Order: sequence, then C-alpha cells, then structure tokens
Amino acid sequence: MTARTPRPPPLYRLVSLDAVDSTNDEAKRLAEDGAAEEWTLVWARAQTAGRGRHGRSWESPEGNLYCSLLLKPACPPGQAAEIGFVAGLAVYDAIGSLVPPGLEAWCKWPNDILLGDAKVAGVLLESQAPGWLVLGTGINVARYPTDAEFPATSLWEQGARGVMAEDMLEAFCRHFLAWYNRWRDEGFAPIRARWLQRARGLDEEISVRLVGETVGGVFAGLDDDGALILEGLDGDRRIVAGDIFFT
Ligand code: BTN
Repeated sequence: MTARTPRPPPLYRLVSLDAVDSTNDEAKRLAEDGAAEEWTLVWARAQTAGRGRHGRSWESPEGNLYCSLLLKPACPPGQAAEIGFVAGLAVYDAIGSLVPPGLEAWCKWPNDILLGDAKVAGVLLESQAPGWLVLGTGINVARYPTDAEFPATSLWEQGARGVMAEDMLEAFCRHFLAWYNRWRDEGFAPIRARWLQRARGLDEEISVRLVGETVGGVFAGLDDDGALILEGLDGDRRIVAGDIFFT
C-alpha cells in the first residue's frame, strides 16, 4: 500500500519523519531550539528509542502510530496531568470511530486504552520548561509486543485490519482537539465524568504497583485532579502514579 501524508485539522503543524529516536524527544528538541510553535505535532513511522511511562521502553516498529504534540496550556503545572485524561478520551474515541462495532474498549488508569483485556495504546506526558508540555501517544495499529508485562494487542489483531497509522493520526487529532477545547472551556469535571463511564475495573478489587510496594483495594474513583482513589481496609488512599492490575 502506498504511504500517504495524513491531514490533521489545520491548527496542527505536522512534522513527518520516517524514523526518530523518540517523537517526545524530537518535540522537546524543537521546543528548546525555539523552532516550534504550540500544536506542533511530531509524527514518525518508527522510533528507535521509544519510551513509555516509568522509564520503560516502547517497542516502535513501522505500522503503529507514534506522535508527540507540543502544547502550552494556560494552567498551573499541577493541572497538566488532566491533559493525559483528555488524550485518553481522544484515543478511545478515535479507536471507536475506526474499529468494527462490537469491539469493547476501556480506559485504564491513568491514560492507557484497552481493547478487551489487552493494552492497545498509551500516553506519555512530559513537561518541558518553560510552560511547554509534550503529549506523546502510541497506538498499536498493526503490531504489538508479545512480551509486555501487561498483555498487549493491536487494532489489526482485534479485527480492524484495514486501519493504517495515518487514519489513526487524523482521527486522534480530531478527537483530541474537541476534548481539549472542552477541557479548556469547562475544566476537568466533564473529562473526569466521561473517563469514569469508560473506566475498566471501577468499583472492583485491583492491585496497584507503586515504587517499592504493591497495594490492593477497591478502585473507588478519581479525585478532582485525576488521582486514583483506592479504598482499603485502612481507609482511602490517593495514588498519583503507579500501574494497576485487575484481579
Ligand atoms: C506508556 O503506556 O507507557 C506510554 C507509552 C507512550 C509511547 C509514545 S509513542 C510516541 C511518544 N514517543 C515516545 O517515545 N513515547 C511516546
């Protein structure tokens, strides 16, 4: 199939690359050089040093979507994590618009998307002084790692074989813009409410792996800033970073 150049909505400034170490790192370099404006979107067909959350690597062969968006949101740094949930909803909706009906997608805290029981997408939000945010999104379109700690899948594996990374980029950009505008105009409340409607494991027993310990409890909801509320025998605990597992 011939490669085509995707056409995101006009606000985005697309930087297309065949390969790069990490689109997040490339976006940061552009911001540092003063060469980039807000809504610059770095998209690469492959990454040689793709990164995931908590310093993990992100397998990045050709066929999947790897993109990083430069944003300069007018919000205090403490609220920036909310944009990860905005991105999660955009990925969820983008996938929903392209996969055959009947495939069940879920939001997994904090910003992953699952198809069935397996992870199909992840988000890596990083800050870049002064005031820049880099929103990195990876979606397993055609390929997925078979040795990931949390089981992974791809859109193709789940039956959406005709979908290409370019289609997914365009859909993600459209949905992200809509959700981002909603967040800017109405705040985190509608994002949080929508995310909770689609959340996997809500009101169920989960375990959460933190640095140096794993804790269990009931996934009772999200705090006003996106922290996970874990209801345990000793009371509620707010968790701002970790990996959750369903039991
Ligand atoms: C995770 O679930 O751990 C987050 C994965 C984020 C991967 C994307 S791919 C595009 C961007 N560039 C990177 O190096 N990482 C993010």
